[in-house]
Amino acid sequence: MDKIIVNGGHQLNGTVEISGMKNAALPIIYACVLVGAKCTIENVPNVRDVALSLDILRGMGAIVNKINDTTVEIDCTDVKPGTSEPELAKKIRASYYLMGAELGRFKKSKVAFPGGCDFGGRPIDQHIKGFEMLGATVTSTCDYVEMTADEHEFYGTNIFFDIVTVGATMNVMLAAVLAKGNTIIENAAREPHIVDLANFLNTCGARISGAGTDVIKIKGVEKLRGSTYAIIPDMIEAGTYMVAAAATGGTIKVTNVIPKHLESISAKLEESGSIVEEFGDAVIVTGRSKIRKANVKTHPYPGFPTDMQPQMATLLCLASGVSYVSEGVYEKRFRYVDELKKMGASIKVDGRMAVIEGGLPLHGTDVVAVDLRAGVAMIIAGLVAEGTTTISNIHLIERGYDDVVGKFRSLGADIKKVSEPD
Ligand code: EPZ
Repeated sequence: MDKIIVNGGHQLNGTVEISGMKNAALPIIYACVLVGAKCTIENVPNVRDVALSLDILRGMGAIVNKINDTTVEIDCTDVKPGTSEPELAKKIRASYYLMGAELGRFKKSKVAFPGGCDFGGRPIDQHIKGFEMLGATVTSTCDYVEMTADEHEFYGTNIFFDIVTVGATMNVMLAAVLAKGNTIIENAAREPHIVDLANFLNTCGARISGAGTDVIKIKGVEKLRGSTYAIIPDMIEAGTYMVAAAATGGTIKVTNVIPKHLESISAKLEESGSIVEEFGDAVIVTGRSKIRKANVKTHPYPGFPTDMQPQMATLLCLASGVSYVSEGVYEKRFRYVDELKKMGASIKVDGRMAVIEGGLPLHGTDVVAVDLRAGVAMIIAGLVAEGTTTISNIHLIERGYDDVVGKFRSLGADIKKVSEPD
């Protein structure tokens, strides 16, 4: 089993270039099923979830060619609906974008119920509500979601989401693009990757407006065409290295970013004592020896991202005083706290609230990556802990971080990946 070993006590300094955003690349890759023509996608991150998604499309009859390290050609002309491999699809959450893409193009779909990180219940009732309101008949079991729609009764409509949901906003957008008539999605999520998906679809001939606001309008079109599109930079990967600078007291220039996407992260780091300077496509974060306590409430964009919660909580373990972290998106996203407590942290969790008594020294030990972002938080903890931290289950980290060991090493971390017999 592969592990990451970190020896703490090294300040991180230097420059790191951010890869394309996993959570934008995944819906755009699955959207190629809706487009049904050759698309060239650039700035694609080299992460496990992308590789798995490309394999799923290949298994459905897509022609997928990697042009270079970050560019892939995807032609879904001959893809058939309902043919995704269930054992692959249920490994990740993003495969559920096949539902909207297949329904939109073929007016039928059958996809295994999605997997993904374990944060408690992750229902898809809002996705199904949107599909049904467009005219689909949905049958869902614990294994599959199956949909059919009569071509003549699949029609644009007004959909008001009961909660703000990234996945349902994008999935229903996919389903509505080729529907007759106009669709208005209200109470839509506003994440930058939703804007990226809308921009990609519009380069293919869709007519989507309002993405990035809570009201998205989609005018149905007859057909889409292939296009070339570059994925936006990964704001969560960027935020992760920003927190690492703050935690180790170093200065890191994070390049290939859109500073606007990082505003809530930059603000929280400044609140906890770091210096953050913004440039056109970069930010420079300088950590200070004295880290101030701060309170965090995660919330859909433009709020503080839930995907930055474990990383920020780790930083607050180093702050002087008591910090409060409340998780506004998921039922259970504090499973990593037990791992931090093994390292000496003092954190009490009550439901969606964690109370962090900062200022206690962290010491290296064996820890587990319990999910993707929790795993990278273990790396940050290892960077500042005394001694050696060994992280297992690192395939979860590699689901969403491109060359995470190489990038941290280039910043001065004493970090390596080792393979040990299972
Ligand atoms: C996406 O998950 C991301 N995953 C998550 O990132 C991210 O945490 C999340 O958005 C929020 O930003 C991908 O993009 C692959 P949601 P998703 O639809 O689509 C409730 C990472 O680390 N909900 O906003 O699942 C339910 O509790 C991952 O990269 C319903 O109740 O986000 C769900 O868990 C982790 N009914 C929560 O909202 C619904 O129909 C967030 O869902 C839909 C959602």
